[in-house]
Amino acid sequence: MSKPKSNYYVTTPIYYVTAKPHVGTLYSTIIADVAARWEKIQGKNIFFLTGTDEHGQKIEQAALKAGKDPKTFVDSFISSYKDMWKAYELDYTHFIRTTDEYHVKAVQEIISRLIKQGDIYKSHYKGWYCTPDETFVAEASDNDTQAPPCPQCNRQTIAMSEESYFFKLSAYQDRLLKFYEEHPAWTSPKERIAEVKSFVSSGLKDLSISRTSVTWGIPFPGDPKHVVYVWIDALANYLTGVGYLSHARDTEFDQWWPVDLQILGKDIVRFHAVYWPAILMALNLPISKRLLVHGWITVDDKKMSKSFGNAIDPEILLKAYGPEPVRYYLMRQIPVNQDGNFSFSDLEHRVGADLADSLGNLLNRMVSLAHQHNVTELTAQKKWSPKSAELHEQAQKCIEQYCILMDASLYHQALGVLWTFISHVNGYFHAQEPWRIVKTDKEAFIEILSATAHSLRIIALLLWPVLPKKMEELLFALGFKILNNENMIKDLVSEKWDHEFVLRKIDVLFIKPEAGVYESIMKEKMSEKEEKKDETSAISTISIEDLSKIYLAVGTITDCQIVEKSDKLYKLTVDLGVLGNRTILAGVRNSFDAHDLIGKQGVFVTNLAPRKLMGVESQGMMLIAQDESGKLQLVSPGSAVPNGTRLR
Ligand code: MSP
Repeated sequence: MSKPKSNYYVTTPIYYVTAKPHVGTLYSTIIADVAARWEKIQGKNIFFLTGTDEHGQKIEQAALKAGKDPKTFVDSFISSYKDMWKAYELDYTHFIRTTDEYHVKAVQEIISRLIKQGDIYKSHYKGWYCTPDETFVAEASDNDTQAPPCPQCNRQTIAMSEESYFFKLSAYQDRLLKFYEEHPAWTSPKERIAEVKSFVSSGLKDLSISRTSVTWGIPFPGDPKHVVYVWIDALANYLTGVGYLSHARDTEFDQWWPVDLQILGKDIVRFHAVYWPAILMALNLPISKRLLVHGWITVDDKKMSKSFGNAIDPEILLKAYGPEPVRYYLMRQIPVNQDGNFSFSDLEHRVGADLADSLGNLLNRMVSLAHQHNVTELTAQKKWSPKSAELHEQAQKCIEQYCILMDASLYHQALGVLWTFISHVNGYFHAQEPWRIVKTDKEAFIEILSATAHSLRIIALLLWPVLPKKMEELLFALGFKILNNENMIKDLVSEKWDHEFVLRKIDVLFIKPEAGVYESIMKEKMSEKEEKKDETSAISTISIEDLSKIYLAVGTITDCQIVEKSDKLYKLTVDLGVLGNRTILAGVRNSFDAHDLIGKQGVFVTNLAPRKLMGVESQGMMLIAQDESGKLQLVSPGSAVPNGTRLR
């Protein structure tokens, strides 16, 4: 079975989960979402894969620093990724985690196959290793005296020698060079392929693909003191995420492979343009169709990154400007094929001038004027004046250029072309003075409204991949819905402008941001943190005698009933062993279903004076903790202890 033409598969890199998402990872994911939606609107079925890269030394060390085991550590960030992606309207099909069992199994199967066919062998590796980048940067020889800095990040490397399994990368050198030769447009921008070619033609060494110095990774099949090198594990996600070597999903893989578009930052080109196609060749699979390599978002010419202390918090951006203005800004301002500087004044200007003034106001003025003169519906226009015909022509040219640029993933240029058209529409609307013409020539008035409405409809359809919800609102204001059909673009270029419209007033589409809004939200957040700190530092110490007054004991919840008059409280029956059964009220209904609690052990304050709430007497208190997402968690012993056990 081969992949249907109408199926489109797009991927992002999978992100290291040492912290919450940042603007760099958000950027990669927004590009993928825009690319996917651009295909979707043209009738394609989409598989959009994103996820997290959860193994390796970097994660192991970060977890250790945080005092958590690696799995608990990575688990704690997943909801912040998923929630953030949702908030930014990133409509992924599947979120892969490299700790997912199906992925682990498939990676082991890949390795086993490559061992069997002689593409992987065991030997020793001695080299300079960059811990933050998880990669050997150079082979070390006995004559070396000093550790070189990492060529990627410039940080100090360390000498490392270990028994290792190797992938026979060198055997693929010629095939890779031939592939680049035959596919000069494989990477966008094309220039990237030149760097890759020169790296490959300077001679490829076999690639060390296992580690004994790391324990947090996928166990190497047949040799569990090794774990699979994290980059091999990670690259395989593009296959396993669509069902490769997963028996339950085998036919699914054929529906999506080869992947149509892979988004990645320029820092990880070598992994994707050298190692990755060689692995695919070894597995006898078709190579990805295209790699889109984006530049870095910089602040004052430095890569935006947590470690440089110049990272911008996407959560605050969201609160300050809303998801779609941020999507628009990143796609418009940062040329996808180069580095681009992030600045709040540019962002605020773009949102104010481009979105609120040029686009939002145009719709608002047109619909308000129509309603003011009791026009709520527009019938198909029979003929057009030369001025309207000129606008129609400009629209057609805009659509053609926009499509070429979007297909080439030159999003910033495509948006530039679209905004030139938006300014033509504004120019047309104002020059025609419909508010004056309505007094003398109602037909001409209607024509101006209709030409403007046709233009706005085109703008909304073209812009939907970048601003999906806002453009759906715009279309609603014109009496339309989003179309997903394979002829959408073709029809749009050749359409006669004979649509009918229903004009509806809607809330203002885009609000001009107040200057400095990010700063003020950030300050607020900081002061909240400070307050919390103050709260903790204000706690005074107590004596051991004070502590001994509190009788904390472990008990098992044997029953859990809703307290009818309250929307938070549960009435728990707790078996406290020697202390007997108690009725204890707990305000935890938002975080637990009753069946989550029954049978669980918790910790209870057993000598608190009884108190009546909602007509029920509570004979103690259950201890709870709040996690980062605000959800309440039970405090329980690590393993079961007899009920009534006192905590000391
Ligand atoms: N885990 C690897 C990728 C494995 S893919 C098989 C990784 N993860 S990462 O979290 O460090 O970075 C993921 C992506 O975010 C990369 O494409 C990287 O370029 C991008 N960005 C991180 N910081 C960035 C900027 N400041 N600007 C733009 N993108 C950058 O690498």
